[in-house]
Amino acid sequence: MNFKLAFKVLMYAGFFSAFTFAQSQTLSFDNAKFKFGDDPSWKSLEFDDSSWQTKSVVSSWDNQGIGKEKTYAWYRIHFVLPESMRNSSGKSSILKIEMGQIDDVDATYINGKLIGSMGNFPDSKKGYGSNWSAKRIYNIPLNDAALKWGKDNVLAIKVYNSDGDGGMSKSPVIINVPKNIDGLKITMQDNGDEDIIINVKNIFNINLNGELSLNLTNGDNGEPIYSASKKISLKNNSSSSIVVPNKDYSFKILNYTFVEKKNGDKIDGVFIPKYILTPKASASPKLNNPSVFGVRPNSPIIYRIPCTGERPIKLSVKDLPQGVNFDSQNGVLNGKLSKKGEYKLTLVAENSKGKDEKQFIIKVGDVISLTPAMGWNSWNCWGLSVSQDKVMASAQGLIESGLADYGFYYINIDDAWEASKRNEDGTISTNDKFPDMKALGDWLHQRGLKFGIYSSPGDLTCGGYLGSIDHEQQDAQVYNSWGIDYLKYDWCGYSRAHNKEIDKNTVASYVRPYLKMEKFLRDQPRDIHYSLCQYGMAEVWKWGHCVDANSWRTTGDINDSWNSLYSIGFESQLKTSKYAAPGHWNDQDMLVVGNVGWGPSLHPSRLTADEQYTHLTLWTLQASVLLIGCPLDDIDEFTLSLLQNSEVIAVDQDELGVAATQDVADGDIRIWKRPLKDGSYAVGIFNVGNKHLNVDFSKYFKQLGIGEVKNARDLWRQQDVSTANMNYFIPSHGVRYLKIKY
Ligand code: GLA
Repeated sequence: MNFKLAFKVLMYAGFFSAFTFAQSQTLSFDNAKFKFGDDPSWKSLEFDDSSWQTKSVVSSWDNQGIGKEKTYAWYRIHFVLPESMRNSSGKSSILKIEMGQIDDVDATYINGKLIGSMGNFPDSKKGYGSNWSAKRIYNIPLNDAALKWGKDNVLAIKVYNSDGDGGMSKSPVIINVPKNIDGLKITMQDNGDEDIIINVKNIFNINLNGELSLNLTNGDNGEPIYSASKKISLKNNSSSSIVVPNKDYSFKILNYTFVEKKNGDKIDGVFIPKYILTPKASASPKLNNPSVFGVRPNSPIIYRIPCTGERPIKLSVKDLPQGVNFDSQNGVLNGKLSKKGEYKLTLVAENSKGKDEKQFIIKVGDVISLTPAMGWNSWNCWGLSVSQDKVMASAQGLIESGLADYGFYYINIDDAWEASKRNEDGTISTNDKFPDMKALGDWLHQRGLKFGIYSSPGDLTCGGYLGSIDHEQQDAQVYNSWGIDYLKYDWCGYSRAHNKEIDKNTVASYVRPYLKMEKFLRDQPRDIHYSLCQYGMAEVWKWGHCVDANSWRTTGDINDSWNSLYSIGFESQLKTSKYAAPGHWNDQDMLVVGNVGWGPSLHPSRLTADEQYTHLTLWTLQASVLLIGCPLDDIDEFTLSLLQNSEVIAVDQDELGVAATQDVADGDIRIWKRPLKDGSYAVGIFNVGNKHLNVDFSKYFKQLGIGEVKNARDLWRQQDVSTANMNYFIPSHGVRYLKIKY
């Protein structure tokens, strides 16, 4: 499966920015001698590769039209090492070899000597393991006997491609003698505790000594909060850390500088620890439901009314149509309506602090999911280690953390619930981790939550579990019997069937498996949100609505890195936004906030606070499905504040259902604008660069078609803001999110 495409452009740009130290003493290669196959003699200096072809190391096999899966190949680069390179002053005592990505595994040699390897080849004792996304940086001491100064040397790279793009890509091969300090990596670990940890790591095989200074200031007024400096001595490949106290979630800036002792070389930068913008919800009731809800005639209605405020809250419903009951205990609407039409209800919430009333229209018709689905999915946290207990813990967490009060209500099991074999009658059943799906469905429905599941149109899912091929009708019937409300249908193993089709290059061949399942889903006497997952192939956004999909993934899988977020959230959505509409949404993939891990062990999302604000801002502007990807029984305050901003969520759920378009791209500034039902606009002003910026929003009015801004509100801060001065400080990778009327 080719999930790797999405990262291409950005990684390429990112790699070049790392070369700022490159000087004339740098060797750079775009091409190499190349041959498919594998032979140990190909690593040696003496081997004669003159009959080999020349291929690019910057461009993948697929891009060069030579793509092969499950294949070994070698690249060989000849170079003369100039004597002058090792004599330059201020330099380290190592030769550094920097390459781009290698899909999937490599072992890299200089003159026959192994200098580095990433991933595991299929014959490895540990078993095959891809490391396609990592950039390769290897080094070798300048005095290593393997190096031939003033003479011909050979860098030989053995690679193995399992699937995807294949081979070396994204960057030329760069060989140089860097400065000591170029091996230093300074990172911030911010787990939302009372401390932040600054990690300092030396990735080179040399000793590095110096002093690290830290300065924490108030981000709004620059007042000093804390400062420290520490002498640091790092042996090869070792690290050290410093703890910085960070008591609250206010906006702060941490400046750091490291000065190397030997040469006085310096690196500095800025970190912004996690900060909370969303104000605490008010004690008086606030109804957070979208204004519309779609249901098909006679399908069960299950709707938990989302409402914040101090408990106890008395919820009631005016103008309840016949056929619908209100469970005031759990705040859930239940029932069925047989006649098509619009049913206008008024929801009422009261407590000792006040009262709120809001209209809620049940639209009985052919279209469901009139606003993007909101809920939880197990994949980004638990991966294949998901179990019924973990699902129930997050469902309980959804309610107890208050997230259900903001409108999150789907609880979706992703891959790895399936039994290894079908029952004798061909029906699907669960593995031991899911003892009773029907009971789980009932348990969720009693709480007003909805139940989602995962399968593939192919023989196997991405995780190697059973798919639905040739059993589509049976599976849809089983889902109905379990009370399933959402199906994520993931292409994956279907590629085997697809490859055999004579029309495999046509859009029809991509539509076919989804059309098939659509029919059986729609035959069921309940509404099942139909979620396509096929990574955007054949421009699914153009035809997803034809198979009555309620949402479709637009790209390959997301991960918790800026590259992934940028590529999925900005680049890939330039072409999709105009296809979003009520009932049929783009799905930018599950949120990478809180603790993620795609398996049994989790780690806090590696996205910075600003990147996470950008994440939620983009997804809501683009009317994306919002599925939380972290466990909800143990969710930190920062992540909750991101997900519990009713004004931000209201943009996602806006009834008009028109997604934002990128209307400005100016240097590192991007502006996305979305029209809303009430005549106003949601606007995200993003800084996608590496430097913090002051942005004068008014400079872009003309380009955005704005004459005069009549009023403006900061959505994250939930505050009205001045229209006279619209100059904003926007941190690197961060955003200012406004709602404006003009
Ligand atoms: C694919 C999908 C993911 C997840 C996994 C499960 O990679 O894109 O979202 O469902 O399969 O195996």
